[in-house]
Amino acid sequence: MTACKAVEIAAEIYWIGALDPQLREFDIILKTANGTSYNAYCIRGQKGVAIIDTVKISHADEFFARLEQVAHYEEIQAIILNHLEPDHSGALPELIRRAPQAQIYLSHRGQMMLKGIIKDEVLEYIPVGTGDTIDLGERQLHFLHTPFLHWPDTQCTYLEKEGILFSGDIFGCHFCDSRLFNDKVGDFRAAFEYYYAHLMRPFREHVLEALALIEPLPLNLLAPAHGPILRDSPAAYVQRYRQLAEPLLAAAKQEKTLLIFYISAYGNTTRMAQAIGEGAEMVNGVRVSLYDLQGCEVSPLVDLIEEADGLVLGSPTINGDAVKPIWDLLSSLALVKVRGKLGAAFGSYGWSGEAVSLIEDRLRGLKLRIPVKGCKIKLIPTDAELEQCRGLGYELALHLTGQTEQRLITLNELIVRETNYA
Ligand SMILES: Cc1cc2nc3c(=O)[nH]c(=O)nc-3n(C[C@H](O)[C@H](O)[C@H](O)COP(=O)(O)O)c2cc1C
Repeated sequence: MTACKAVEIAAEIYWIGALDPQLREFDIILKTANGTSYNAYCIRGQKGVAIIDTVKISHADEFFARLEQVAHYEEIQAIILNHLEPDHSGALPELIRRAPQAQIYLSHRGQMMLKGIIKDEVLEYIPVGTGDTIDLGERQLHFLHTPFLHWPDTQCTYLEKEGILFSGDIFGCHFCDSRLFNDKVGDFRAAFEYYYAHLMRPFREHVLEALALIEPLPLNLLAPAHGPILRDSPAAYVQRYRQLAEPLLAAAKQEKTLLIFYISAYGNTTRMAQAIGEGAEMVNGVRVSLYDLQGCEVSPLVDLIEEADGLVLGSPTINGDAVKPIWDLLSSLALVKVRGKLGAAFGSYGWSGEAVSLIEDRLRGLKLRIPVKGCKIKLIPTDAELEQCRGLGYELALHLTGQTEQRLITLNELIVRETNYA
């Protein structure tokens, strides 16, 4: 493709985006071996021109150069923003300046975002949602409300007659290849999966809601906001999202699942983990799995974590903290929906014992519920202390299975617990 050429993706529908092949890190958190593209589109109709999304401000010149090849600014009737993230709205202020007559269409949730981006209180725009349309004459654009994928204001725009879905970041990926179309570019499957895992997966329920709107649509082409344009088998990408978003262990959901992650230098925290597992297994309907973080990577386990009902994390206190593999596990939970799961912490310590409360704080921050106080044991656990660990596992399992009942705790029991925790 020659530099800065608009590309016709269907009759009178053009890609007018920009390529960013040098980018290696996106939004600080995502790696990209192949850079990215900012896809924007121009649709010509009898009643005027519609522009879907713009590009990152650093690439505005490229965007305007392509746009000018296929439309005059005064023809632009509609500027549609599928979401307002800066990599798609960067060139918007300048586009508004060049095409002041154009109506701006965005989702209801996009209104506040727009005000945050263009600090102009008098700017006029039209909020739209599922069922709203724009008539370009012989072609109609339909809006689909698909929030949180991956910004709150995300929507998709569907060109009915042509069966083209402009899907915003949904079905996108960071993969820059000037050949543009999925049947021409290099193998981008890894980038597609990586993008889903990092940006869509935390919003699994919203993915399922969006699929319910998208799956019934006749689809000839998927035009996402990043990465290849999907004209070969577009439905396969929709299906892949369905597979990724469906609960993994749906069939096995009769029992509650409890995952215990631990790490231990001298075996003390290991013994506690085993005892907690034994206690939890005493309750019918709870399946317990133990993982020594010294022997596993977390990434293959994220599906299990997402499906689990309870997570228990154990770390010795080393230099006043929980150890790095535990923090790595906790930071990876930000990509997984863990809100509302049950959590607990435990660990052996020598003198100060900060690890357990630090883990509990982080679990609370991730919105897990911590129904049972964590278990801290000084150095080597005694038989009685291992029994306390069994008690923790047992109580947690009762909470998981909804069998908790109010009971009176004796003063002695309370003193033993508090002494242990101090
Ligand atoms: C390098 C090192 C640093 C430690 N720092 C602390 C500490 O800051 N606070 C504390 O309570 N215990 C500390 N400990 C003691 C351990 O928490 C204790 O030995 C614990 O029983 C180890 O449990 P584990 O066998 O599960 O690894 C430290 C131990 C080591 C080896």
